[in-house]
Amino acid sequence: MCDDYKKITGTLYGLGVGPGDPGLVTVRAKEILDTVDTIFVPKAKDDGRSCARSIAEAAVSKPKNFIELIFPMTKDRKKLESYWLSAARRIARELKRERQAAFVTIGDPFIYSTYIYLLETLRKNFPNIELKTIPGISAFNAAAASGGLPLVKGDERMAILPVTKDLKGLRKALKEFDTVVLMKVGSKLGIIIRLLKEMKLIKNSVLVSHAGQAGEKIIRDISSLKDKKSGYLSVIIVKRKMDNKI
Ligand SMILES: C[S@@+](CC[C@H](N)C(=O)[O-])C[C@H]1O[C@@H](n2cnc3c(N)ncnc32)[C@H](O)[C@@H]1O
Repeated sequence: MCDDYKKITGTLYGLGVGPGDPGLVTVRAKEILDTVDTIFVPKAKDDGRSCARSIAEAAVSKPKNFIELIFPMTKDRKKLESYWLSAARRIARELKRERQAAFVTIGDPFIYSTYIYLLETLRKNFPNIELKTIPGISAFNAAAASGGLPLVKGDERMAILPVTKDLKGLRKALKEFDTVVLMKVGSKLGIIIRLLKEMKLIKNSVLVSHAGQAGEKIIRDISSLKDKKSGYLSVIIVKRKMDNKI
């Protein structure tokens, strides 16, 4: 990359826009969305919809220049790095003209977000760009509120884990923590239901899908779920001891 590129300045705001309901976008995030002209949005596929874009569009007061950046769903690190770098370059080009822009992400930007990799790539390749991260309401906060499930009280401890096919670390966390938040459930719903049954935690588990969105579902009897798609955009909260319903 030429040195001129490295000298690009400007500010990128990494905004969390919450789980879906525009009412759950923070005042600070909305102020920034209304101030900047360009809003970058992450997308997994060319022909897909960006959830973060829909939330930002509903939150802004006037039309904005939305630029979609593709981040494919792959575990191929080399491929991902090339997408992070081209996204970082695209942002740098825009900042050269506009001085400031936003990158939006669902939930909170520092929880399992592509933004984290983008931030690292920008820091490394464009050290003069100022990066400001604005927190958002995470999906698990919205899921807990909708499900009436306090996350932790007193000296209780909580773990947040992604569901992986090999269930890495899940059994241990479910034994050790008072509350376990399972994210990235997706197509792994069947295997996690089997584990929760085996550990006699199924009755202490609540699945919330599309939390804070129009199609929100709160499922308290998750063993009844047959449809593989039920895991899509879902969080499962598992409590070691179930409190009385709130
Ligand atoms: C890549 S992570 C992004 C997490 C996001 N940064 C956050 O703070 O919520 C995607 C996972 O977040 C969870 N998720 C995101 N939005 C959700 C929603 N509205 N309802 C339930 N789960 C959601 C799902 O577990 C999904 O697989």
